Amino acid sequence: MTQAVTESTTARPLRSTTAEPFILTIFGATGDLTRRKLIPAMFANYREGLLPKNFAIVGYARRDWGDAGFRERAGEMINMADSAKTQQQWNEFCRHLYYHQADLDDPQGYAGLKALLDKLCGERDIPGNYLFYFSTQPRYFAPIAMHLAEQKLSRNELFGAPWTRIIVEKPFGHDLTSSVELNHQMTQSFREDQIYRIDHYLGKETVQNIMVLRFANSIFEPLWNNKYVDHVQVTVAETLGVEGRGGYYDKSGALRDIAQNHVLQLLALVGMEVPVSVDGTAIRNEKVKVLQALRPFSETCARGNVVRAQYGPGMVEGKQQIGYLEEPDIPGDSATETYLAFKTFIDNWRWAGVPFYVRTGKRMKHRVTEVNIHFKHIPQILFDRHPFGPMQPNVLVLRIQPDESIMLQFQIKFPGAAMRIESLKMDFSYQDTFGKSPPEAYQRLLLDAILGDPTLFIHGDEVEQSWRFFEPVLQCQESGIKLPSYASGSWGPAEADDLLLRDGREWRIFETPESHKVCYI
Ligand code: BG6
Repeated sequence: MTQAVTESTTARPLRSTTAEPFILTIFGATGDLTRRKLIPAMFANYREGLLPKNFAIVGYARRDWGDAGFRERAGEMINMADSAKTQQQWNEFCRHLYYHQADLDDPQGYAGLKALLDKLCGERDIPGNYLFYFSTQPRYFAPIAMHLAEQKLSRNELFGAPWTRIIVEKPFGHDLTSSVELNHQMTQSFREDQIYRIDHYLGKETVQNIMVLRFANSIFEPLWNNKYVDHVQVTVAETLGVEGRGGYYDKSGALRDIAQNHVLQLLALVGMEVPVSVDGTAIRNEKVKVLQALRPFSETCARGNVVRAQYGPGMVEGKQQIGYLEEPDIPGDSATETYLAFKTFIDNWRWAGVPFYVRTGKRMKHRVTEVNIHFKHIPQILFDRHPFGPMQPNVLVLRIQPDESIMLQFQIKFPGAAMRIESLKMDFSYQDTFGKSPPEAYQRLLLDAILGDPTLFIHGDEVEQSWRFFEPVLQCQESGIKLPSYASGSWGPAEADDLLLRDGREWRIFETPESHKVCYI
């Protein structure tokens, strides 16, 4: 496929890219997310010149680290061997990092934080613009918001500087009731427009590209409906297990960890109507309508259309892995799912009758996130007697990760005297076209929050609606029914295959980037 990229009118920035001086405070700064994602993302923004000259990052946590300890640990995930320049830039960046040792539920800790922020504003000429990142256990979200408000750090000015925003990590609540309650508690201290609920999937380039593909091209949108689409598949498969997060994971499972947030966001972007603009409110309004139109599961229907399972032992990428029930911190009788598949419908005019099959799991055969749009079979009047079996339908594959790409499968005539029809795959790869993989999602999302662009963050309504959709499934989860298991390194349990087989369909077979390039199958 031609892969020339032209600088065109599309290069116009859609939003301001000038960040004002600010202080980012990270609650839970000694956690893994800070070291693995947040600091590298902020450093990447710094290196690309996207941060203002005057800024500071304050780590807030209980451990006795001090500025020096925080700076040292923050650098652990940065590849300094890269170049002397990286090391020098890191040294400069480090001077913006500070540490505040305090307990998350100690009011004095917040008083101390306020004093530190005041001091840094004075020293660094920062006009009191604050971004607070809640990277803690969810039970602290409401108390942190309350303590910040007590210290008058949740200022509510509608217009003009200084601004205050908070980023709240997932999970936002653990069911409908708790998410409503949490939304209520947070909005006691902050206005909705100050709350940036993060779902890092929305920061992925390939996820943002779903909207561009659909709405910046005229050829896809006319086909994007029940007249042409037979069904849609969404797969979020990981090879990882619970990776030392057993305590957290066993209370979440695949539903709370991935499906309620990442998966439903993908579904909403694929299913939504054309927004009136690319403004955050317009997009979020359209997404929430999709979530509202998802056909509710009745309790019995949840049993028929939902498959929950746990991984057993098995080989993943050549390594023997233990089963979920043997993992540390997992009770031997746990009924938490590590795999979830379901069939649903978006009951509106565009999608009536089109099934959406969704699956997500840990310890699967390959790591892949894909959205597959399966178009309808042709009526086959012209070519029904060709000798190579039934023709393949057109499929549009949106490979979200890894090997980020888009692939279209279509039919061609194989050269020769016979009317031989073959399936051809035409693909676009981010790596081949742009010479590099897309940037980390957190880089974009942190910058958006600093710039005050909420488009890629989740509105309170969306969170509540996605919990509402899953309520009946959560009830199944709570019933403690023993789950089927699937071998680690497989594509999940047979029950999930049946979900499609009984409709005469199959999960799409995963393909490596190499097989994309094979023209004839
Ligand atoms: C997180 C989940 O939200 O997403 C993890 O808590 C999961 O369990 C991760 O591994 C997957 O993210 P990504 O970007 O690697 O697909």
